[in-house]
Amino acid sequence: MDTERIDVAKLTGAEAENELARLASFLNQANIAYHAKDNPLISDADFDSLKRRNAEIETRFASLKRSDSPSDKIGAVAESGFSKVAHSQRMLSLGNAFDEQDVDEFDERIRRFLGLKAEAVLTYTAEPKIDGLSLTLRYEAGQLVQAATRGDGSVGENVTQNARMIADIPQVLKDAPPVLEVRGEVYMARSDFQRLNETQAEAQAKLFSNPRNAAAGSLRQLDAEITRSRPLKFFAYAWGELSNPLGASQSEVLKFFSKLGFEINPLTLTCQSVAQLIAQYQHISALRADLDYDIDGVVYKIDELALQQRLGERSTTPRWAIAHKFAAETAWTDLEAIDIQVGRTGALSPVARLVPVTVGGVVVSNATLHNEDYISGLDSNGAKIRAGRDIRPGDRVQVYRAGDVIPKIADVDLTFRDQARAKYTFPQNCPECGSPAIRAAGDAVRRCLGGLICPAQGVERLKHFVARKAFDIEGLGAKQIEMFFSDDLLPVREPADIFTLEARDAVSLAPLKNRDGWGGKSASNLFSAINERRNIGLGRLLFALGIRHLGEAGGNLIAAHYGDWAALVSALDQAAAGEGLEWDNLRAIDGVGEVMARSLISAFAPGPERRAIDRLASHLTVRDAPKPQTDGSPVAGKTLVFTGTLEQMSRAEAKARAETLGAKVAGSVSAKTDLLIAGPGARSKAKKATDLGIETIDEAAWLALIEGL
Ligand code: IVH
Repeated sequence: MDTERIDVAKLTGAEAENELARLASFLNQANIAYHAKDNPLISDADFDSLKRRNAEIETRFASLKRSDSPSDKIGAVAESGFSKVAHSQRMLSLGNAFDEQDVDEFDERIRRFLGLKAEAVLTYTAEPKIDGLSLTLRYEAGQLVQAATRGDGSVGENVTQNARMIADIPQVLKDAPPVLEVRGEVYMARSDFQRLNETQAEAQAKLFSNPRNAAAGSLRQLDAEITRSRPLKFFAYAWGELSNPLGASQSEVLKFFSKLGFEINPLTLTCQSVAQLIAQYQHISALRADLDYDIDGVVYKIDELALQQRLGERSTTPRWAIAHKFAAETAWTDLEAIDIQVGRTGALSPVARLVPVTVGGVVVSNATLHNEDYISGLDSNGAKIRAGRDIRPGDRVQVYRAGDVIPKIADVDLTFRDQARAKYTFPQNCPECGSPAIRAAGDAVRRCLGGLICPAQGVERLKHFVARKAFDIEGLGAKQIEMFFSDDLLPVREPADIFTLEARDAVSLAPLKNRDGWGGKSASNLFSAINERRNIGLGRLLFALGIRHLGEAGGNLIAAHYGDWAALVSALDQAAAGEGLEWDNLRAIDGVGEVMARSLISAFAPGPERRAIDRLASHLTVRDAPKPQTDGSPVAGKTLVFTGTLEQMSRAEAKARAETLGAKVAGSVSAKTDLLIAGPGARSKAKKATDLGIETIDEAAWLALIEGL
């Protein structure tokens, strides 16, 4: 490396960028050699020293940090014992459909996006949704070099050694392209699960609650020999990075996978209409009980890859696929009590405490009751649910697992209700801090007004702050947050306190390492995990702040618009009055509504909440929002507005295309607009653009502009 000898402090931006690229490539190769091939390229000491240099350059040039940075990949070995792997292409999840109408809407959305008529034939594939865990397998020159779990979709765990123990996963591929990432589901057959639990019982070892948990537990074993002894299987159904295309359609690629030696689910079928999809759904449902593996729905995918490409993806799910879920399983049990939990935004959430019952293979003892209307038998529009039957502690209730996640209560059996059993009264005060709990007009939820004085809100905000999609600090989860929150010697009461913990610990009379359940190693691991997160992406930081109405997608949207922390803070300060140029700009971001805008501004308005944000920011290096790959794009960094009717491409597709080319798409014309694309029928926006002297082009010119990109 030619710049290697230059002091980091003296590197120019261009030299830093080059060196980061070289370090990423070299360290990532060295990492694969070390982990996947047991054949290290360099000594551990050299490896560590290059990694340190990489981190130093990143600290100095935060905005140059790469998405495949070795700091994210190999840095810390996760607490679980697995190193981390940044996926070359994100591992997406799927949106859900629960009934035929949802499937119809999915098909209509796609047609609208692609500008297709109702009668045009669209080919889909339908295949079972396997209830296991997803895995990505990377083959280079036909050799399996890495296997990783999905993790948060961007970064997963390196389980290469374990994946090598699964018979369905070929170690070597004949006639494979130079780079091939095969993705699919690891699962355990029901019969194997039964046998495994029998063996576990004999050995007085822990029993698994269902085949999915058994598969996950078996794959994530630090000792790969244990994985070898577990009967895991694998179905291939998707792919990641490829050096060359494998076919023109989903079904062709699956055939190719099958030729390479992967198992493809035999119930996969191509369909030409929603009616055919539903027929296949019913066929698979009828077979479900007799299959030797668990499935929880049927996945529909657009078959043609060129169409998949045009449809693209939303923040975490593709537009071209959906999971049609099976109806949830239900069970009857007794409701012992209704408890109230206070969330980070002060929402009082009622929780049903149930006599434990098995629903769809999982033991359920709590269920959400949403809000006071839901308990009294009304939905959010005031219409009756459960034929208006209310829910009372002591009732016999029917529980189901909605979308297989949070259990809910479907119904109440009134024949079990004692006449004397009183109706439930919802508390009017926060059960945690005693402050009044008010239900604002139009809000389904009652909220504690205690704000920063309410300990429950404080602790929940911190739990959100360290959650996986937020700061994701290894070893600092909900349990540890509760401990630190109520600790008088080393308290963590707001996010900034996390970043002063190490310094306070160093001078504490009761340092962490001397505490029950902690030692020198676990304390120092925690501090290094915290230090690793001092460098954080802007979108993630915004989400972590737990601002009401600002979710993960909102955080990324705001981050992409403002680019960096200083620009964001200054714009929000100027937008604080709820009027003026910066307010208009904020409101003009497509996807930012008035409610989100006001909530963001109120969090940054002068006051205790803003002071806490400033204290936090003083401990962080905030990475700029990633800039899209827009080489050669004529619209990169520009703000576009579409208006009127587009004929060649739907508005949604035009917007998605513009965004992938690095443009911002706004909903209304302002002084910040660079270009207006006006189809026939454009009126007020076109006039405003003319008045402001903004360049206006028609659809043909727009298509010519982006052609070939
Ligand atoms: S396709 C880009 N196909 O379901 C689309 N996923 O809820 C990637 N899954 O994370 C997923 N069977 O773990 C796909 N036949 C199938 C599947 C399947 C099970 C899982 C997968 C994914 C999750 C999404």
